[in-house]
Amino acid sequence: MSDILITEKIQGLAIDALGQSYDVKYEPNLWQNDAALRDAVGKTRAMIVRNQTQVTRALIAGGNSLKVIGRAGAGLDNIDVAAACEQGIVVTSTPEQNSLSVAELTLGLMLALARHIPAADRDTRVGNWSRQKFTGVELYGSTVGIVGFGRIGFLTAMRAQAMGMRVVISDPVVGPDAATVNAVGGYVLPLEQVLGAADFICCHVPCTPSTRLFFNADRFAQTKQGAYFINTSRGEVVDELALASVLKSKHLAGAGLDVRSTEPPTASVFDQMDNVILTPHIAAFTDQAQDRVIKAVCLDVAGVLEGKTPNYPA
Ligand code: 3PG
Repeated sequence: MSDILITEKIQGLAIDALGQSYDVKYEPNLWQNDAALRDAVGKTRAMIVRNQTQVTRALIAGGNSLKVIGRAGAGLDNIDVAAACEQGIVVTSTPEQNSLSVAELTLGLMLALARHIPAADRDTRVGNWSRQKFTGVELYGSTVGIVGFGRIGFLTAMRAQAMGMRVVISDPVVGPDAATVNAVGGYVLPLEQVLGAADFICCHVPCTPSTRLFFNADRFAQTKQGAYFINTSRGEVVDELALASVLKSKHLAGAGLDVRSTEPPTASVFDQMDNVILTPHIAAFTDQAQDRVIKAVCLDVAGVLEGKTPNYPA
């Protein structure tokens, strides 16, 4: 029996500190082995995961002594929260701790796409000096469409506003007079109008059963000719074949994808596209964000084991 089981690569001083007071079992590859995972979950009081451990109803059912599941990150799509609640197991997450880093990567992808930075880098390394070929566009004066205006959407919009971009927003639960909308000088519009107006579309939609394949062929058809699409949310909210098709036809000028429908992804059509920037789900991976995330999850998991109410219950 362990106190705390860690099933993915999650390291830091806060984890080391947990080890002083609890029996911590660190198994960074356990998420890949169903049988061993089931066995270990049956013998622990707490578990800490990122987004690769599939914490299903069946897995939770075998957690006879399980009191708390700590998600080191924001997205809860890999955890059956309802099943955990039914079994009286607390689920905690770290929703605020990595938002800033995600917003910064989103802005980074926008700039990298607008100025062709990765393609220019590849070209220059092989001895070329092709200045006109990499003529880009300014962010200043262009329109960013924020689809999903939660914490990350808001922080992205603030940065876009600072770059002189016009901000249009689509979110079913955000009203036109919300303080956050006013703070970024934004306009809340119906989704089709956002898609039709935006030069840069930033996807910040969480993955839920109702948002799977949210960006499908119909929605891509509504986007402005020559727009860029950036996804730092979840790959499952995008129909990747539909996206590939609008990129191939040059309806969209490019895409920045930090997340994919399967992670790690298998070889795909995106790999050969010069106008697509691919990163391996690193939006939350900065020293600062990881430090905050790991501290927060450790604090909540230890707190629940001591009978306290968590700061960030799911
Ligand atoms: C999140 O949901 O917080 C981000 O996607 C990062 O998740 P990860 O730390 O599990 O990669």
